Amino acid sequence: MPPSQPSNSSFPAINGARYAAITGWGKCLPPAVLSNADLATFIDTDDDWITSRTGMKERRVAHVQCTDMAHIAALRALAAAGRTAQDLDLIIFGSCTGDTVVPTCASRVQDLLGAKGIASLDLNTACTSGLYALSVASSMIKTGSAKRVLVIGAEKPSALMDWTNRNVAVLFGDGAAALIVEGSEQEQGLMAESLGCYAEARDSLAVHNYGTAYTNMCPTSITSWDFDGQDIFKRAVKGMVKASHDVLNKLNLGVEDIDTLVPHQANSRIIDAVGKKLGVPADKVFVNVERYGNMSAATVMIALCEAIEEGKVKPGANILLPAFGAGLTWNSHFIRWGERVEPLGYSDAELPACKKTALEIIAPRLEAQRKHAQSEQASSDKTDNQQQNKNNKPVEELA
Ligand code: UT7
Repeated sequence: MPPSQPSNSSFPAINGARYAAITGWGKCLPPAVLSNADLATFIDTDDDWITSRTGMKERRVAHVQCTDMAHIAALRALAAAGRTAQDLDLIIFGSCTGDTVVPTCASRVQDLLGAKGIASLDLNTACTSGLYALSVASSMIKTGSAKRVLVIGAEKPSALMDWTNRNVAVLFGDGAAALIVEGSEQEQGLMAESLGCYAEARDSLAVHNYGTAYTNMCPTSITSWDFDGQDIFKRAVKGMVKASHDVLNKLNLGVEDIDTLVPHQANSRIIDAVGKKLGVPADKVFVNVERYGNMSAATVMIALCEAIEEGKVKPGANILLPAFGAGLTWNSHFIRWGERVEPLGYSDAELPACKKTALEIIAPRLEAQRKHAQSEQASSDKTDNQQQNKNNKPVEELA
């Protein structure tokens, strides 16, 4: 016998809103700039290689915690929406490089904002976390579980970077962005999304010595990265194009209906490939990868904020946001923007002043990683020598 279902009249109906509008937006970039020339001072790379292979010129390095950047971005987004923290009922913190796992990062932002007693949660799908957080927020608003949500995409990859590895050290930067999402009866906000993950390729991007699998094995300053750039590149293009076609099909729209494409900013060549495969003209594609590199979960959200600031999002615009990240997760979000493209207000909140250069901020971590690499090399040389000695001995002495 199937379990009996509650009758329709057993529970009061909880009505959600028809749409989940984005009413506020804000970003926070730490001031310390790490240029290609700075990177070339400590790893074997140069501006020419980085620019031609990635489009990146510089990236930011945070002198504060990830949640500090998120807090400032949140205050700016709230001001843009004409709201205060007391108007929120949920915070979603999207990140894979938050300051702590226990307690949650969302709870720190909540505490800093003084938003007492509301719900908050962390969400990690790596670089796509901010957009997956937007999906969760919009869905909860539509089911009536939440009314007004602060969605954050914030990252501090500098804190788990292997600064001795040129394959990854040049690619990432720190930053944060926030959106205010609230119920609306106007046709706007996230209209549909396509989400997925190539889990069979999860080892293409892995950070070792970060997570409970490594507990007690190694100090976490000594991370090492598995990074198959070409595999990620190919799957990123495939996943973002597939997701974009899926979401357009869901909405019965065509590529010509896209006003602005704001893709994940991991590599200008990936952005070009996605734009070309979709058939979106280059003048509709927003690019800021040269300024910040790949800021993981913060990337698309900061790009969206800058597209609005630069007048590239018009009232009622159709915006497509494809992204990908470790996992390998992928997505494409279709947003119908509202009528307002100007913030209702501005916050004067700022990060504390930074007295160090980017090179000075990363120096202790780089030094620890170099020492670790030297000691690993020394012990490997010792093992090789012992093996060599053994090999030089007559076989009867080894028996
Ligand atoms: O959000 C997810 C994050 N992941 C990504 O965004 C990764 C996507 N992949 C990529 O963006 C590209 O694959 C990379 C930018 C990572 C690499 O570009 P590529 O054109 O695929 O280069 P490659 O891997 O084929 O490397 C070519 C050469 C190699 O040298 P050899 O073996 O040909 O002698 C690398 O060792 O370039 C070398 N190389 C560098 N040289 C100077 C790798 N990194 C650097 C560097 N500076 N920083």
